[in-house]
Amino acid sequence: MKEIKAIIQPFMLERVCAVLREIEGLPGITVSQVMGWGKSRAADARDPVQEAGIAFARKTKMEIVVSASLAPRVVAAIESAARTGNVGDGKIFVYDVEEVVKIRTGERGEEAI
Ligand SMILES: Nc1ncnc2c1ncn2[C@@H]1O[C@H](COP(=O)(O)OP(=O)(O)OP(=O)(O)O)[C@@H](O)[C@H]1O
Ligand SMILES: [Mg+2]
Repeated sequence: MKEIKAIIQPFMLERVCAVLREIEGLPGITVSQVMGWGKSRAADARDPVQEAGIAFARKTKMEIVVSASLAPRVVAAIESAARTGNVGDGKIFVYDVEEVVKIRTGERGEEAI
């Protein structure tokens, strides 16, 4: 099992979600509005958030846990849908997931995703 964590431009969320909804078997997604900076330290941010005197760029974080076999498809879909070609397009991180527990049924592992 893999977790795909993508940090994308907030205005690309609709487009990225539209593509992800077309992937059969995609079990779920968690979306949060976050702030951060990359190499440019948010100097390129359109509408920066000031927190403790430091500028952060507004970003959207997507977290998706899938079977290892589905992960490359999800990564490719996000990569192509989220790209504008400009700085600040974001990044995709892929992690191994040790365990998943579905609270309602007590299922474990792939069954629970
Ligand atoms: N190494 C990292 N660790 C954690 N978060 C990161 C990392 N790199 C980028 N991010 C997050 O992704 C957001 C977008 O990063 P961004 O695309 O600007 O990266 P970059 O390396 O500066 O690339 P670019 O040159 O395209 O701007 C950042 O605001 C931050 O929230
Ligand atoms: Mg950057």
